[in-house]
Amino acid sequence: MKKLISITTNEKKINSLQSLNSDCLVIGINEDKKLNDVTKVLNTASSGSIKKLIDRQELTGELKNQLYLPELNGFKANKVYFIGLGKKNKELKEDEFSTLSTALSKISISANSRNIDIFLPEIKVKSKNASWVYKILARDIESGCYQYFFDGKKKQPKYKLKKVNFLNLEGKDSKTKIISSIKIGQIVGAGMNTSKNLANTPANICTPSHLANQAKLLAKTYPSIKTKVLGEKEMKKLGMDCLLSVGNGSAQESKFIIMQYSGGEKKSKPHVIVGKGITFDTGGISIKPSPNMDEMKYDMSGSASVFGTMRAIGEIKPKLNIIGIVASAENMPSSTATKPGDVVNTLSGQTVEILNTDAEGRLVLCDALTYVERYKPASVIDIATLTGACVVALGHQATGLLSNDQGLADKIMESGFSSCDKAWQLPLWDEYQSDISSKYADIANIGGRAGTITAACFLSRFTKSYKWAHLDIAGTAYGGRVGKTSSGRPVPLLTEYLLSRK
Ligand code: BES
Ligand code: MN
Ligand code: ZN
Repeated sequence: MKKLISITTNEKKINSLQSLNSDCLVIGINEDKKLNDVTKVLNTASSGSIKKLIDRQELTGELKNQLYLPELNGFKANKVYFIGLGKKNKELKEDEFSTLSTALSKISISANSRNIDIFLPEIKVKSKNASWVYKILARDIESGCYQYFFDGKKKQPKYKLKKVNFLNLEGKDSKTKIISSIKIGQIVGAGMNTSKNLANTPANICTPSHLANQAKLLAKTYPSIKTKVLGEKEMKKLGMDCLLSVGNGSAQESKFIIMQYSGGEKKSKPHVIVGKGITFDTGGISIKPSPNMDEMKYDMSGSASVFGTMRAIGEIKPKLNIIGIVASAENMPSSTATKPGDVVNTLSGQTVEILNTDAEGRLVLCDALTYVERYKPASVIDIATLTGACVVALGHQATGLLSNDQGLADKIMESGFSSCDKAWQLPLWDEYQSDISSKYADIANIGGRAGTITAACFLSRFTKSYKWAHLDIAGTAYGGRVGKTSSGRPVPLLTEYLLSRK
């Protein structure tokens, strides 16, 4: 486990910034054509430099406006960054703040300093308090510092950042509350990094067995987490034929991984998260086209988010019972692989006609979703890079959300907004169900035009006995704005949801 950066707070007044022996000083500035409370003080200290920058419209304070100065007249700091916060009393929307926070984390890293000091005048976000603001800032700084840490690439630049110090905690919240919020945000950021690293690990290393080992490691690190791993023999005995059918063509053994966190009372019902863990998806016999097939190493991102969330939970230790499940296999073509038209049994007793071996995620998830019935869960969320159709519907911005319980869907959507890790609901109406009827089995694994919805319809056949939601993260787990790399989503959403269950 990588060491976290140290995030501290050390109250300083604006008029003392000039004498700060800082390696790198970051100052938030509100938008103004003239000098304001903050810039006035800075201007005096710098003998008029700030006014010049404002007059030249280089320092505007507009939201995300940035300015880097290798030195500032009268200031002891080695270098100074300014970041625009927008108009002083204008409340930001969550989204606006989120991009500001990302920009700030990028500055923190590109500053190439070991220690940075950040001075921010109060940032107001609509219906949020200062604790929330600092939680997101700390999360984005920690997760922004992520660098892939496997020895694949020999020459890698190493980020220097070790310490971030907030100099001003202005806002309507007690300092202790803000500090504990910073801690939580940072843990969520670290959870995202756990998730990113697993997802970025190449599929020849990140196999189902590798994931199983990660789960064992997690249990070693956090005594409140117990891990159990089922291999193919055990799954066969239980009757998880459908999950097993996906790994039939692979030399890698499929694994079913259970991570049980006990922080609540014994009788309190657990919340369960289930991750799709396809460590590589070739499509199987229904093979995928070659371009960008390397991205299918990310097909275990759902399970990566389960690991990241469980790590965060292990650190935060909420008074809750939470179970993380990973259904893992490698989807390969071979002479032993499942063929289109094959009919398999599921753990639930229903049979499935596999018309397309590339619709494999639902095949591993369905048995996992039946398995978790035994916990009599308070809620179950599965997380999966399930359909390309979801990327077409929602792009890389929002995770697809489908649920058999509107109350649960609402809570998840709300957690998405308040963690700046958004999900958007698609319908799961009965009229879509007939799209997956089969001539030769109880259910077909593909059908109809609405790919994301029919995939959820398939899963819904296995989740009748509890409140369940499905998160399709095909568009949000990697790619998009972050490029060909994992985003760490939806660890923030999942953690937010779980912590709100206390
Ligand atoms: N892992 C893919 C979905 C996917 C596609 C994720 C692109 C991320 C980016 C999934 O297993 C799959 O292949 N789904 C098929 C389903 C189809 C055969 C009904 C798809 O979306 O094309
Ligand atoms: Mn597939
Ligand atoms: Zn897949």
